[in-house]
Amino acid sequence: MRSSSSPARTRLAALVAGAATVGALLSGAAAHAADSPLRDLGAAKGKIVGTAVTGSKLTGTYGDVAAAQFSSLTPGNAMKWGSVEPSQGVFDWTEADQIVAFAQAHGQQVRGHTLVWHNQNPNWLTGGSWTPDRLSTLLRNHIDTEVGRYKGRIAAWDVVNEAFNEDGTYRPTLWYQGLGADYIANALTWARAADPAAKLYINDYNVEGVNAKSTALYDLVRSLKARGVPIDGVGLQAHLVLGQVPSTLQQNIQRFADLGVDVAITELDVRMTLPPDSAKLARQKADYQAVTAACVAVTRCVNLTVWGFTDSDSWVESTFPGEGAATPYDANYAPKPAYHGIAEALGGATTPPPTGACTAAYAVGSQWNTGFTGNVTISCSGAALSSWKATWTYGAGQRITQAWNADCTQSGATVTCVNAPYNGSVPDGGSVSFGFNASWSGSNPAPTVTLG
Ligand code: G3I
Repeated sequence: MRSSSSPARTRLAALVAGAATVGALLSGAAAHAADSPLRDLGAAKGKIVGTAVTGSKLTGTYGDVAAAQFSSLTPGNAMKWGSVEPSQGVFDWTEADQIVAFAQAHGQQVRGHTLVWHNQNPNWLTGGSWTPDRLSTLLRNHIDTEVGRYKGRIAAWDVVNEAFNEDGTYRPTLWYQGLGADYIANALTWARAADPAAKLYINDYNVEGVNAKSTALYDLVRSLKARGVPIDGVGLQAHLVLGQVPSTLQQNIQRFADLGVDVAITELDVRMTLPPDSAKLARQKADYQAVTAACVAVTRCVNLTVWGFTDSDSWVESTFPGEGAATPYDANYAPKPAYHGIAEALGGATTPPPTGACTAAYAVGSQWNTGFTGNVTISCSGAALSSWKATWTYGAGQRITQAWNADCTQSGATVTCVNAPYNGSVPDGGSVSFGFNASWSGSNPAPTVTLG
């Protein structure tokens, strides 16, 4: 179905190999061969490995990584009702079509996300006043139109998203309040009619472990099955906090599987307090590895999808100020330890734990209305450098105007700083710093610095 040696995949394999080598040299660990892509490791275990994507970014390195590493794409926003029908009867399928076409070109599945939700609905819908009959007709038409448009091209639909409160009662959404709890059964029935081949899921967050919310979901799925309502799977979003993978995750996946439905980890990310450091990244690796291992352990856990694969394309930083670095790749597309956590749980080669490392810390010094001074400190512990290069990507249009104690250039958003002739050497236990002036406007978020 897909070619295993497309140019994009070959380029990416080289990228991963290069990043791994740099990491090994910096950490003092032995160099090791590049691992197989996640999609191939997953296939060997009978798992689809996916990512949420933004359609407009599917070119260049972002597109290369998405194609090479993943066997499933979920549109992060493009298929939501507010995206596809911003004005009543006026449809915009541009981004959704683009993602589906990209997936087909690269032998990838698409998870459709999402048909019935309380967020990201169009204003004409949420601001309207509808009788139950009219609301029901609107919902049925929406499902018929969207599922029908992509009939045969969507492997699975998140039909209903986030139907429950934390205590297991139904969330009082416009659907529940307007139509009662049977909006769920009706939506599933209509979706089945519109595309009989698509697997139909109900998806939620904070349902990864055994708790009141996941038990309500469990009871609902059991009763839907008993009533003959078409339900094929349960999506556990898995927006997790560093160090807080529920201990009952595998048990919970298994109990859903035992009901006779598939399970997917649909939106995995693991957020941390910024900035990242080697201890947090190691903890994050363990968390990604634990979630992946729980899915691997249950045959009916069919898909493991991350909610964005790079820290430059994650919802976390804008939603949780001061938190982020939640995905398996950094903002420069270098695989983080988390990437290796997924790979290892899927049977990929084990990366030796670093014996030591050199790390770079970015800090804003003074800041005024249009400018700021910044400082980067490179520190080594259990490792040493004879030269260094620090790179980062500005996310908000910042521009470097002058640097000292390093030679810095900026191309687009990417800043590259190499050592001055006199400070390339960083001994084990030592550090060097360089500084710069830069301009900013609007916001001035701190980037993640990569050493290479
Ligand atoms: O597209 C507009 C842009 O035109 C505008 O300039 C900008 C200004 O704020 O907003 C842009 O829209 C944003 C949209 O993402 C696209 O980037 C919205 O403000 C923002 O609220 C929206 O966030 C999305 C969020 O759902 C909304 O609830 C995230 O990208 C998306 O990743 C996130 O995904 C959800 C899943 O669907 C369900 N589970 C939870 C998950 C995380 O919240």
